[in-house]
Amino acid sequence: MALGNLLTFYQLQVALTLLASFFHSPPVSPKCRSQLGDPLFPTINELSQFNDSIDGQLIAIVPSGSYCLSRGGCTEAEWTSSVFRSTIPGAMTNVNWEQNYSSDPNELCFRNSTICGAGNVPIFGVNASKPEHIQAGIEFARTRNLKLVVKSTGHDFLGRSTARNSFLLWTRNFRNITFHDSFEVGGQDMGSAVTVGSGVPLNMLYQAAKTNGKTFVGGTAGTVAPAGGYVQGAGHSALSPIYGLAADNVLEFHIVTPNGDLVTANTESHSDLFWALRGGGPGSWGVIVNATFRTFPILNASHQRTTIIVNNTQDVRTLTEIHAQHIFDWDDARAAQYFYWRAIHHTNGGASQYSFTIDTLFPNMSVPDSIASLEPMLGDFRDKGFNFTTSSVQTNINDILTVSTDLVGGEAVLASRFWSDDVYRNNVTDIGKAYQTLFDDGAAAILGHKLLGGRVSENANIDSAVHPGWRTAKTHMVITNTWKDTTSSIEVETLRNDLTKNKTPILASLAGPDDGSYSNEGDVREPEFQRVFYGRNYARLSSIKAHYDPHDLFIVPTGVGSERWDSAGLCKL
Ligand SMILES: *[C@@H]1O[C@H](CO)[C@@H](O)[C@H](O)[C@H]1NC(C)=O
Ligand SMILES: *[C@@H]1O[C@H](CO)[C@@H](O)[C@H](O)[C@H]1NC(C)=O
Ligand SMILES: *[C@@H]1O[C@H](CO)[C@@H](O)[C@H](O)[C@H]1NC(C)=O
Ligand SMILES: *[C@@H]1O[C@H](CO)[C@@H](O)[C@H](O)[C@H]1NC(C)=O
Ligand SMILES: *[C@@H]1O[C@H](CO)[C@@H](O)[C@H](O)[C@H]1NC(C)=O
Ligand SMILES: *[C@@H]1O[C@H](CO)[C@@H](O)[C@H](O)[C@H]1NC(C)=O
Ligand SMILES: *[C@@H]1O[C@H](CO)[C@@H](O)[C@H](O)[C@H]1NC(C)=O
Ligand SMILES: *[C@@H]1O[C@H](CO)[C@@H](O)[C@H](O)[C@H]1NC(C)=O
Ligand SMILES: *[C@@H]1O[C@H](CO)[C@@H](O)[C@H](O)[C@H]1NC(C)=O
Ligand SMILES: *[C@@H]1O[C@H](CO)[C@@H](O)[C@H](O)[C@H]1NC(C)=O
Ligand SMILES: *[C@@H]1O[C@H](CO)[C@@H](O)[C@H](O)[C@H]1NC(C)=O
Repeated sequence: MALGNLLTFYQLQVALTLLASFFHSPPVSPKCRSQLGDPLFPTINELSQFNDSIDGQLIAIVPSGSYCLSRGGCTEAEWTSSVFRSTIPGAMTNVNWEQNYSSDPNELCFRNSTICGAGNVPIFGVNASKPEHIQAGIEFARTRNLKLVVKSTGHDFLGRSTARNSFLLWTRNFRNITFHDSFEVGGQDMGSAVTVGSGVPLNMLYQAAKTNGKTFVGGTAGTVAPAGGYVQGAGHSALSPIYGLAADNVLEFHIVTPNGDLVTANTESHSDLFWALRGGGPGSWGVIVNATFRTFPILNASHQRTTIIVNNTQDVRTLTEIHAQHIFDWDDARAAQYFYWRAIHHTNGGASQYSFTIDTLFPNMSVPDSIASLEPMLGDFRDKGFNFTTSSVQTNINDILTVSTDLVGGEAVLASRFWSDDVYRNNVTDIGKAYQTLFDDGAAAILGHKLLGGRVSENANIDSAVHPGWRTAKTHMVITNTWKDTTSSIEVETLRNDLTKNKTPILASLAGPDDGSYSNEGDVREPEFQRVFYGRNYARLSSIKAHYDPHDLFIVPTGVGSERWDSAGLCKL
């Protein structure tokens, strides 16, 4: 959309806002960010001047449904592709974050919508290709009192890279990747490393690393940005049992801070900011330009997939208990395991089924050895009369972990907890019961991650903002509720409320005293997010925040300091 169109769009919005204010008379308050219709909101002329100052990189932003509408539609393949969605400035991986379900009038905007409102999507933003664009954007937002959001690829399960009435700093085009044989911090050689732009997605980095005979600590979804939200949240990986978390392996950041300075953050320079950037959560500290991570020699891994489909939640419970009894079997091999249960609801009204997929990755191990390592559990499945299928493959780790594109574009909310060794030693029956209850109560999926222990625990001495719960956890457990484009706003609220109020406490009851959660895979409505996402680090994070961002320019839901703002981040409480 060019300024001409933007103008029409504005006039409409301003008219609507004025109309609304005529009826509701909201007080114009300095405690709120400047919004459309406010007298201090930038004029078209000011926007045009700002655009000139950033090489014409100002973009108007609309929800992905509007974007598709404006180009004559998006195909099913495009709409559901995480790679395609990451090219759309206003798109999130999951479309629910673009929506304001409580808007009045209705603003919902999906793939086939013919009428779309602005939703919870920025109004305009900077399509940055160099740090100067970010610096100019921060200055513009600060002086105009705008609500800022930062987005790389839009892969965020808490919707933190989008907000209603906001101004976007888009880092997708920071795509440099540079490998170093040796990387120095403060004159000390830290070994081989790679510097990654904050717009680089994982699928791109895995292939580049493969070409260089290297691997690194990264996740599995293709459009996760390793140098963006992933590392700031901590970042788990199939290689974590060997090498630790992503935050344990980052050596340096180049970041534009909230006052507009481009700084280097590492153990020698801005070490307090470096501490916060490792686990203190995304969207709170500035805009990362690039990050440098340790690299490791590429290795081969055996991948074992076991799949079982059952017809009732009693079988879910039985299989879960067997799995839990065997959770320690793979520790010596430092294997990683994703163990995912999903509810399958048949559209013909048939009974629900539940599918259990256990993906285990054994680094540096042959296929026969990896099968032998799983056999005690599989034997117990057989003894209880369950049929399952298995498949095995050995290949280099970068090819196994990467996917060209993820199937996305739907609606989902997450909540999570760490479960400790103790729970697996003492409470196997309680674990089985929890799964059964969660599915009986309509959970869409229970996603288990045995990517912890090993080096993650051994790294407990690293002084960073990583939640201490990571270091004692055996698994990270995620539950999801999902819905459809056609689900009513009232039903959406019921599902979200159910996740926060009913289902999360079931997960939490097994979390023990170190009740923590991975902030990137948690519930954006987590009532005690300070304790659950940051633990004892919250106080120090708050003081670092006060130092670097005294005006709260970088506020995201559940981020450090967000307790001072409303849920939209638009008005101070
Ligand atoms: C910013 O300027 C560029 C180049 O002049 C133009 O193509 C673009 O449409 C402008 N952005 C907006 C939002 O009008
Ligand atoms: C949704 O829109 C309404 C106005 O229709 C607004 O008052 C509310 O704050 C919005 N909610 C969010 C989460 O942005
Ligand atoms: C959108 O419309 C296309 C055809 O126009 C159809 O194939 C697709 O299923 C629809 N998608 C949704 C989510 O309704
Ligand atoms: C953003 O800028 C890049 C060049 O840096 C350009 O290739 C791309 O088309 C722009 N995207 C949008 C949505 O304007
Ligand atoms: C990308 O690399 C080029 C060449 O080294 C450099 O000039 C440029 O500043 C880098 N861009 C970013 C955003 O880091
Ligand atoms: C990382 O960003 C800094 C700051 O823009 C830049 O000087 C440096 O060249 C970048 N590194 C790489 C390898 O792109
Ligand atoms: C991985 O396996 C391939 C094919 O079996 C082999 O050529 C290669 O040398 C192995 N790489 C390592 C690092 O072991
Ligand atoms: C589930 O039901 C199907 C169809 O009735 C049956 O073939 C299958 O064996 C059942 N599975 C289990 C694990 O009982
Ligand atoms: C994997 O095997 C290679 C070749 O033997 C070795 O260099 C490397 O250290 C091993 N890596 C791990 C994590 O065991
Ligand atoms: C497992 O497979 C065997 C042989 O195919 C079959 O007889 C049996 O009914 C199956 N059991 C279940 C629970 O599906
Ligand atoms: C776990 O087991 C211990 C020891 O049997 C018991 O005291 C505790 O209540 C159990 N925890 C839960 C959440 O059921």
